[in-house]
Amino acid sequence: MKLKRFKNYHELSDFAAGDIANSIKSKPSLVLCLASGDTPKLTVELLVKKLKEEKIDYSKITFIGLDEWVGLPPTNTGSCHYFFQNKLIEPLQLKPSQYFLFNALADDFENECVKMDRFINDRNGIDVMLVGIGMNGHIGFNEPGAAFNNLSHVIELDEITKAVGQKYFNEQVELGKGITLGFKHLLNAKKVFMMANGSKKAEVIKKAVEGTVTESFPASIMQQHENGFILIDDEAASLLSKPH
Ligand code: F6R
Repeated sequence: MKLKRFKNYHELSDFAAGDIANSIKSKPSLVLCLASGDTPKLTVELLVKKLKEEKIDYSKITFIGLDEWVGLPPTNTGSCHYFFQNKLIEPLQLKPSQYFLFNALADDFENECVKMDRFINDRNGIDVMLVGIGMNGHIGFNEPGAAFNNLSHVIELDEITKAVGQKYFNEQVELGKGITLGFKHLLNAKKVFMMANGSKKAEVIKKAVEGTVTESFPASIMQQHENGFILIDDEAASLLSKPH
C-alpha cells in the first residue's frame, strides 16, 4: 500500500480521474468499480469530462457499483443507483450489458450476490477499484467485523453508518441493511484507490494507515493490498504521526 498526499480535494480528485482515464486509454475493456458518496463525486465528474474531452474510447468499459442501501428504489435520490445513473451511466451512455448495480429491491439477495460475483468473475476480475472510507472505517458496506474473505454479501448496517448515511437523503429514511462487494473483491482487484478528504476523516485515516490490520477496523485492509493507494488531502492527513 502506498500513500499519496494532495493539497486539497480538487487535486486529489483530479489525480484519481486522470489515472483512471489513462487506465482506460491503455486498456479500453477496463473493469472499473466505484463507490458512490461525497468523496468520489468530483472524481467521477472529472473522469467523464476527461474521457470526453480527450476523446478516449470508453465504449468497451465495464462498470460495477460497489454497494447499495437495501430496500431503496433506484429513483431515490440518495441511492447509489441514482448517483451512478446520473453521474456516469447516462453521461457515458453505458449499455445495460456494460454495468452491474445491485438491485436493492431484489426478492432474493443471495442470488443478487451470486449474480454480482459471477458478473465480476466472467470479466476476469476488477481492474481498478475506487472506494471511500466511512466514519467507522467501513469500505463499501463492509462494516466493522466483516470478514476479509467475503465475496458479495448483505449486512446489517452499523449505527454510525445509519446515522451518517442520512446526509445523502432529502428526508429521514429508515436504513437497515446494505448489500456490498466483499473484501475478497478488493484484495483481488488489480489496483485499488481509497480516497479521503477533509479533517473529519483524519482520525479514520490515521487508524487505516498506522493502526493494526484487523477486521474490526475494515479500512486497515488497505495495508495488505500490494497495489493499493490511499489518496488523501492535507486535512485528512493531519493526524498521521509518521512521515509517509
Ligand atoms: C458508498 C460507500 C461508502 C462510502 C463511505 C464514505 O458507495 O461505499 O462506503 O464510501 O461511507 O462516504 P463519503 O464519501 O460520503 O464520506
